[in-house]
Amino acid sequence: MTAFTLAHLSDPHLAPLPAPRLHQLAGKRALGYLNWRRDRHKIHRRDVLDTLVADLRAQSPGHIAITGDLVNLALPDEFTQARAWLESVGAPADVTLVPGNHDAYVRVTTKQTSQWAEYMRGDSAGTGAPLSFPFLRRRGPLTLIGVSSAVPTRPFMATGSLRRSQLDMLEQGFSQIADEPSFRVLLIHHPLSSKASYKRLTDADALLALIKRHRVDLILHGHDHVRSTMWFEGPLGRVPAIGVPSASATPHRNYPAAAYNLFSISREGDSWRCEQRVRGFADGAAVEKAEVTELQRVQLI
Ligand SMILES: [Fe+2]
Ligand SMILES: [Fe+2]
Repeated sequence: MTAFTLAHLSDPHLAPLPAPRLHQLAGKRALGYLNWRRDRHKIHRRDVLDTLVADLRAQSPGHIAITGDLVNLALPDEFTQARAWLESVGAPADVTLVPGNHDAYVRVTTKQTSQWAEYMRGDSAGTGAPLSFPFLRRRGPLTLIGVSSAVPTRPFMATGSLRRSQLDMLEQGFSQIADEPSFRVLLIHHPLSSKASYKRLTDADALLALIKRHRVDLILHGHDHVRSTMWFEGPLGRVPAIGVPSASATPHRNYPAAAYNLFSISREGDSWRCEQRVRGFADGAAVEKAEVTELQRVQLI
């Protein structure tokens, strides 16, 4: 069987930031705006992102996963701009999105989030159905499970939460697909473990307990803006959780330049094989192949 390729990028933090109106800069947004004007506009560059996405598209992946933080201050105009960017990455059928904390920087309206809805809708949801998490999409040999950890928080906080309702629905969903042999990929913005309490997933323990009981083969996340591999306990062995740098980043402090991952997933007899390839900016120059790692082999029976 030929391998299916899943590309993963995250945290584009789209630039340029549309000019906010004065009344939009109350509370948390005012701090975020100052931060953007001072530092972040130098870090998150549209030309970097465009080069990365062009390279990703040239690899012709079977599907593309994006794990949130498309915008910065959750301004209405940013949502419109991000919809256009999403279309430049691919059609809604070929791109699956979950939102990040910056996409819920302040409480956002349905009108804003509905612009991205086609990219966050499960296969069984009808056109125009309200957004609902978790959602399930089947693509090639994959079952993609999208959850939303994006919740508005106080200034200086960037925590995430799935809340009881999503965890319960996740449990039900796993039970429904228990007998399916597909390769299961969980998409979530926040990492499942974090040393920094101001930006952690507050109900990570409950999610980890679910993953211990139900098979997930690969977890993809963003939020930390660094390359990372963590391993968590699953019913058939250890499960890799992979984080990527921001897709628009220039290297700064301890943060690396923009990169994305390509996962080649293939069935070999009774097991799944998953291989990770990293492509990213080397020394701020062109995108190049960095390395290939065999992540895991999942023995199904
Ligand atoms: Fe981010
Ligand atoms: Fe984030």
